[in-house]
Amino acid sequence: MMDMKRRIADLAGSMLKKAFPQAEGLPEDLYALLEVPPDSAMGDYAFPCFKLSKALRLAPPLIAKTLAEALDENGVARVECAGGYLNFFFDRETLARDLLSAILAAPEKWGSSDEGAGKTVCLDYSSINIAKRFHLGHLSTTVLGNALKRIYDFQGWHTVSINHLGDWGTQFGKMICAYKKWGEKDAVEQGGVDEMTRLYVRFGEEAAKDPALEDEGRAWFKKIEEGDPEALEIFQWFKEVTLKDAMRVYDVLDVKFDSYAGESFYADKTGRVVKELEEKGLLQDSDGAKIVDLEAFGMPPCLILKSDGATLYHTRDIAAAIYRKETYHFDQCLYVVAYQQDLHFRQLFKVLELMGYDWAKDQCKHVAFGMVSYEGQAMATRKGHVVLLDELLTRAQEKALEIIKEKSPNLENKEEVARQVGVGAVVYATLQNNRIKDIDFWWDRALNFDGETGPYVQYTFARCCSVLRKAPENNAAPAYAALTDDESQALLRLLSRFPEAVSEACQRNEPYLITRAVTDIAKAYNKFYYEHRILDDDAAATAARLELTRACAQVIKTGLYLIGLSAPERM
Ligand code: ARG
Repeated sequence: MMDMKRRIADLAGSMLKKAFPQAEGLPEDLYALLEVPPDSAMGDYAFPCFKLSKALRLAPPLIAKTLAEALDENGVARVECAGGYLNFFFDRETLARDLLSAILAAPEKWGSSDEGAGKTVCLDYSSINIAKRFHLGHLSTTVLGNALKRIYDFQGWHTVSINHLGDWGTQFGKMICAYKKWGEKDAVEQGGVDEMTRLYVRFGEEAAKDPALEDEGRAWFKKIEEGDPEALEIFQWFKEVTLKDAMRVYDVLDVKFDSYAGESFYADKTGRVVKELEEKGLLQDSDGAKIVDLEAFGMPPCLILKSDGATLYHTRDIAAAIYRKETYHFDQCLYVVAYQQDLHFRQLFKVLELMGYDWAKDQCKHVAFGMVSYEGQAMATRKGHVVLLDELLTRAQEKALEIIKEKSPNLENKEEVARQVGVGAVVYATLQNNRIKDIDFWWDRALNFDGETGPYVQYTFARCCSVLRKAPENNAAPAYAALTDDESQALLRLLSRFPEAVSEACQRNEPYLITRAVTDIAKAYNKFYYEHRILDDDAAATAARLELTRACAQVIKTGLYLIGLSAPERM
């Protein structure tokens, strides 16, 4: 696969070695040192000269001169020295020819790599809670996790996506108790999570009047723990009803999981954790509870067992991490969870490390993200405006449909496209900036076809498809000289850097780098589209511009897929 940066690094490296065989301290590989200049007039890649001039004991201009002569015939037009940098300029025609043939040779693979070959990554995302509403608070983890899974897959990793369900705790005993007393099967089937919540709230109200109820609730939880068939059956059914609701969201977003092993899955695996902690001398008593003291690390203690012997969120997470390591042999275990749980994960990783699991230190990562608010209002779970994901996505599709009806009244599959565009708008808005940044979601912004939005990028893809559809039969050999203008070159340069964007997105767990890359490509294509006649009288020039259009469409489609958007061919 052609990677211009790689090519420059290799060429420059070998030229240097040839020109200066005696030099010591030349970097083995120049790749990491190459930079993208802020302005393309300064070159396609830049190399900080002073790093070379020291090793070579030569002034930067002399190095530039030697390299320029050597690189002349290799698709690099010239090397210039400016402001402490060596600037590399590609030969414009060569760039067009080589890059387009590389992209079009394996259109669906451009940007992929085998960086992760032989490695496994576990991704813990979405991880919803049973009997709780699936609201906007779970949007980022779901969308981010899905994008990361696709990106890691694309980089050759073996991925294991896990929905670590929140399905353990005394509240489920209370809920079953309430159901037995006042519940009805049909009401739960139809009302779903809302009905379960209603039962749970009623339990609280009744227990305030009659404290003995609390014991009954606890007894039901104990039954779940002990595997009582009736308790398990109801509990299992609550889970199914909750998941059925969630599935609607997952289907619309095209999000999939390899495993739904949640907290309850680890209930019978926490005994071993407690025993191990004890044996390793890490467990301490604290008012009847068991804790791991983390004061030496500047953190509050990690709670392992309550005084009644019940396990905690941490206990189950310790068991889960060990289980995942032993089952999947992961090289990375990512937790895509809000930054509010930062302390939880620092404690978790530290305890694992203290237990002697060295991998916890560099293989377990909390992939944290900021808050989402909706049209200026922070998420409130209690009073009123809980924005349900399901409703948000439905609303997105309705709004997109209105716009599409107006913009493209003749489009055949309006509903289908509205789904892709509406969902795309939401997903794009979620992955637009680095993940730690808070998101304020506004409809007008997300659905603006002209701004930096999902619909804008999708629209550009559809535009490319339309150009390709309209192109007449053309057998002319492409004249790449037709792509040496600034607009074509700007677009080519962005396409050539797409693989770097994907690789960096994977290394930093930042899908927004891909969002940005496809947005820049879309903008550059539109500029190219307005400045040049693609379907021209000159068949050879037309063929070259069509190749550029096809490559661009393909890269946009790949990029959109990687962040979780579909690419409609007509909109
Ligand atoms: N269910 C939790 C929540 O909604 C997130 C779980 C994240 N994963 C984990 N292994 N702790 O807050």
